[in-house]
Amino acid sequence: MIIAVDGPTASGKGTIASSLARHFGLPHLDTGLLYRAVGRQVQLAGTDPDSESDALAATDFPDSLLDDPELRSEVSGSFASRVSVHPKVRAALLERQRTFAQREGGAVLDGRDIGTVICPDADVKLFVTASLDARTDRRFAELKGQGRDVTRDEVHEQIARRDERDMGRKDAPLVAAQDAFVLDTTTLDKEASIAAAVEIVTQHA
Ligand code: C5P
Repeated sequence: MIIAVDGPTASGKGTIASSLARHFGLPHLDTGLLYRAVGRQVQLAGTDPDSESDALAATDFPDSLLDDPELRSEVSGSFASRVSVHPKVRAALLERQRTFAQREGGAVLDGRDIGTVICPDADVKLFVTASLDARTDRRFAELKGQGRDVTRDEVHEQIARRDERDMGRKDAPLVAAQDAFVLDTTTLDKEASIAAAVEIVTQHA
């Protein structure tokens, strides 16, 4: 069983994907981490994330980079969204994601283009979304909890900019697959979001 989970930043898709993986006993790949690693590699090398050739060179990152806690930062998220607009970068990461999806027994993958590009034949596709305000509140609380020095306005601006880039790019833009179930978590807490996702998968897998 392949479960594809897509959605914008701070929608709850990561939490939902890892909970689904645990519930159904499947391995989970957070594909955003791959783009974050490319962005981080560009940042460490001091090259240009907006240059396709510089970003492509960074797809050869060491596996150990995936454990770098810095990948979770907003700066890495922003670098990731800049390198991910390049078609050659997306192509370089495609095989790794497909290989993971083809594991025996299945897998859960979350990202932006899992249901549309990486696994168009997934057994169940979820598109997890929430209003910009709800996503801003969540990310702001998370960053404050980590002791980061940010304002709500800055977080709002960062998320809006990332949405615009992810939805507006030509190659594999963030969009719900036609056969995806849309799960709007704006008014749902974590437990209710997970329960709704488990229900959808149970009914439709
Ligand atoms: O999901 P996460 O916020 O970690 O992803 C970071 C960035 O990587 C996204 O904003 C997006 O630009 C890019 N990404 C992508 N395709 C994916 C996963 C992430 O373009 N499948």
